[in-house]
Amino acid sequence: MNYPLMNVNRALGPAVLVIFAIALLLSRGRYLDIFFTSHTILLVIPSGLGLIIFILIKNRIKKKIDLLKIQNDVVVIKNGEKLIASVPYKLSIRERGSQSRIDYANEIEALGRVLSRAFPDLLLTIVTQLENRPNTLLIASCEGKSEEQLRRRLKEFGEFLITVKDSIAPDIEMNSMRSSRALVVPLGDGGDAVFLKVYGSVPALPNSRGYSIGFDIELGKANDGYDTPVGLRKEELLRHVAIFGTTGSGKTNTAGLIAAGAAKLGFRTVIVDWHGEYSALLKDAEKWDVKRPLKLKLFQEDDDLEEVVQVLGEALDLTEPQRFLLLTILNLVRKKSRERVFDAVVRAEENSYWIRDVKYALARKLYTISTPKADILFSDGEGVEWRDILKCLKGINVIDLSLVNNLILRKVYVLFLLRFLTEAHLRNWDGKTTIVVLEEAHNYLKEDNPFIERMMSEMRKFNLGICVVSQSPSTIAPCVIKNTNTKLVHALKSNVDKSVVRDSMALDEKFTSALDKLRVGEALLSSPTLPYPVSLRVKKG
Ligand SMILES: Nc1ncnc2c1ncn2[C@@H]1O[C@H](COP(=O)(O)OP(=O)(O)OP(=O)(O)O)[C@@H](O)[C@H]1O
Ligand SMILES: [Mg+2]
Repeated sequence: MNYPLMNVNRALGPAVLVIFAIALLLSRGRYLDIFFTSHTILLVIPSGLGLIIFILIKNRIKKKIDLLKIQNDVVVIKNGEKLIASVPYKLSIRERGSQSRIDYANEIEALGRVLSRAFPDLLLTIVTQLENRPNTLLIASCEGKSEEQLRRRLKEFGEFLITVKDSIAPDIEMNSMRSSRALVVPLGDGGDAVFLKVYGSVPALPNSRGYSIGFDIELGKANDGYDTPVGLRKEELLRHVAIFGTTGSGKTNTAGLIAAGAAKLGFRTVIVDWHGEYSALLKDAEKWDVKRPLKLKLFQEDDDLEEVVQVLGEALDLTEPQRFLLLTILNLVRKKSRERVFDAVVRAEENSYWIRDVKYALARKLYTISTPKADILFSDGEGVEWRDILKCLKGINVIDLSLVNNLILRKVYVLFLLRFLTEAHLRNWDGKTTIVVLEEAHNYLKEDNPFIERMMSEMRKFNLGICVVSQSPSTIAPCVIKNTNTKLVHALKSNVDKSVVRDSMALDEKFTSALDKLRVGEALLSSPTLPYPVSLRVKKG
């Protein structure tokens, strides 16, 4: 069970250096020719050997002392006919002064596995206290009829532990501990090797596993064997979140948890509800729908017209010539309303055949937002302007678009709502952070364009966070994927979607191949505050 050669190897380097140093000192500048003279050799070799022997003895003595302490710590109690002996060890992070990450939980796990395999007749209990610095109590127990035999077995265990610990768990320090301070541990059925892992209720794991330290919104439990609570921090919401997953994988439930959590943190929360699911999930929410719509005023006098054209261009799928013509017309029409803009397009002079084509195609597309049906969502008179949008949307708001049948109208509405919020946060902010949940985002955040890019990359600075929800990450604008720093990915089946997620989250093969096996409510979470993606079970909201 002892490996003295390992210690010799470790001591050899320093010993050789010391020998050389002594040799050089003795040579008084005459260096190597003197080094090999007989009297130096006579001095150097014994001192080197002495040093090695000293190191070996020191190590052996230390081990002996450790073992003696352990033997002292063995407690034996009588349970009917049987005797139960156990010995506790205290494990903690070794102070090294280095900044490198320590995977405490994994080291404990590995150590536990090796020990339970090597000593199947012992009961091992590992209790970890998860406060700021984790501490673990490892208790080895066994039962039998003779005290001497039990003590011998626990001694063997202690020797083995001392020998293997450094190679399996190099960052963990082990100390003996007085039995009186250890827990009383119930034993399993006679002879069963039970490997218990009981983690404390304080949700904080070692630093390396930062995912459980200090979150603001709890999402669920990690699939790490310890059920570590996992959540998001509020600053992560401002760095934008993406939730992906196939139909029925649990996206809406997850987004609902985030929205409710954001509202609890005092954030204004706006949910673009594509299928009318959120009012049931968020009972306290203010509901806006076709019966009680939040009408937007699309054209305002002092608007940045280029941006209006970009947003309309994206929503109505306008070609470049159509965008150009619209911009020209918006510049010409002084008092802007949907009707006036539409009329101005129809009346535009046709001084070449291509203008005629462009103009009618543009008019056809603008018609969608000029019909009475569009009046449900937009109003040129009493509609809300961007500068007032924050006053209308106070706490938690569900904007239910499920009964708006025309998809183009929905798209225009969502993009203008985003534009209004963006503009208000930039120019008329009321000091309250806003989180916007965008369901079925692939319908309107499809392609990169300057407005979407600006919104995604700059808005976090102005306290506006976006939570994008979609079943189809491969059809979402690349700048949206790039700028959502936190990703929660439920099950994905399609290879194209999987590869988008794999690339954006830098997933390894193990995680990528797990994506289609996730069950309802299970997800992979990656975020800037995590050292690596975590697999979790999202709680049911
Ligand atoms: N974390 C969870 N634990 C248990 N059940 C869940 C969980 N998340 C969702 N479910 C259940 O799975 C079903 C689908 O959930 P949800 O509506 O959230 O999925 P979705 O991905 O939004 O689906 P869709 O693409 O159709 O909108 C629901 O019945 C819901 O109750
Ligand atoms: Mg859904």
